[in-house]
Amino acid sequence: MRSPMPYPPAPVIPDMSADLWNSASSVLDVNWSDDHMVPSRRLYPHQWSWDAAFIAIGLAYVNPSRAWRDLRSLFEAQWPDGRVPHIVFDPRTAEGDYFPGPGFWNVPAYNGRAARGSTGLVQPPLHAIAAWEVYRRAAAHGAAAAHEAGDELRWLYPRLVAQQEYLSRRRDAAGEGLASIVHPWESGLDNSPSWDTAMAAVPADMGLLTRYTRRDLEVADASHRPLDIDYARYLGLVLNYRDGGYSDTALVQRHDFVVECPSFNAILAAAELALVHIAEVVGADAEVHRERAQRITAAISKHLWDPATRTFRSRDVRTRMLSPARCVNGLVPLILPDLPDHQAAAIMAEAASERFGLPEATGLPVPSYDRTATDFDTLRYWRGPIWININWLLRRGMLVHGYRGEAEDLRMAMIRLIHRSGHYEYFHPVTGEGIGAPTFSWTAALSLDLLADRSVPAYARAA
Ligand code: SER
Repeated sequence: MRSPMPYPPAPVIPDMSADLWNSASSVLDVNWSDDHMVPSRRLYPHQWSWDAAFIAIGLAYVNPSRAWRDLRSLFEAQWPDGRVPHIVFDPRTAEGDYFPGPGFWNVPAYNGRAARGSTGLVQPPLHAIAAWEVYRRAAAHGAAAAHEAGDELRWLYPRLVAQQEYLSRRRDAAGEGLASIVHPWESGLDNSPSWDTAMAAVPADMGLLTRYTRRDLEVADASHRPLDIDYARYLGLVLNYRDGGYSDTALVQRHDFVVECPSFNAILAAAELALVHIAEVVGADAEVHRERAQRITAAISKHLWDPATRTFRSRDVRTRMLSPARCVNGLVPLILPDLPDHQAAAIMAEAASERFGLPEATGLPVPSYDRTATDFDTLRYWRGPIWININWLLRRGMLVHGYRGEAEDLRMAMIRLIHRSGHYEYFHPVTGEGIGAPTFSWTAALSLDLLADRSVPAYARAA
């Protein structure tokens, strides 16, 4: 492996940058496990799908070969139907070290090969964006790294396309051009209030929690994690999908939870824009990806927009109702360059409002949920705490739409918060204290990008 870049190219706060760069690099060293990165050694001791994408974006600066290896490990577990599983299990990790582990998911071997165990769910498809980010930074590491990047991009391209096509074709439950999630874990925002209304209709068999033991509560503070009633529903939804052979026919009839998330779909569209650039490099048809990105953007703009409050919301496909909760996933469509200006401006107004409070007001990145809501919870996972990955996406969106001052303030707020509190999984939205898992891989990886990168990424520019 070639030597890592020792220091970010543009030190923003000299005292802080070197510290943060070094601590982030060492988190990524400690969490590397042979051929993949674990998000956290104790709480998440396998490989997670959208984590791998955020992690690759940071590894691009310090160890691009590992970035490619991590993406390869994930896509080696891709199902024949194109789905990329949300967890790829490490066979060296004991079943009891994570729940629900491979035994619970009971995914059949596929393609006639003894693939690594995986779940049957997906996560936001950020991988084309990550692949493009690693590729575009490869030349800085020399000719061999640039050559490796070309090979890896060619290997990944058809797999990325299959992933997108699975989501766009098999998961379009409403038939209106958006992908549905069939489990809150698929959003990556597990217990977000964005799902509360839809989840209220999902049966909660509390008996499941006597048959199975939650491992997360043994390694994390219970007040930082989803509730037992959430877990009862999470497990029931998995068992139902599993018992149906993880089939995606008749989604609305088959599942108790079928929801369109604005963040998941914005990432789906942004991935098509990244594929425009990747297709140009590998000599494939780029136009098809440009058209798909425009179609998904138009569908988000039309179906997930609440004109009364001028915000984006998740939509329950079973009832066709928008969620009443104002959550951070509604801000993420800002990453789309073709989003109409009036909707981009409305997202910025919502982000700056007392509900989310951009750094100018709070000194902190935005929380995961409306600060003024009566059930705003400063500790509990996606019901209030600050998450770096979503703020990273939001900053990208600000750059895409020309909100440069706000983007810079947000970048600095993230850097200061992580430097002060450490590479935590999430942060208290009032005090900034680190909560959840310490030494969390995507927080570390994205700190590298935040320190090094001030540019608008090519995938995000209007073509
Ligand atoms: N985020 C879930 C967990 O906490 C699963 O993806 O384990």
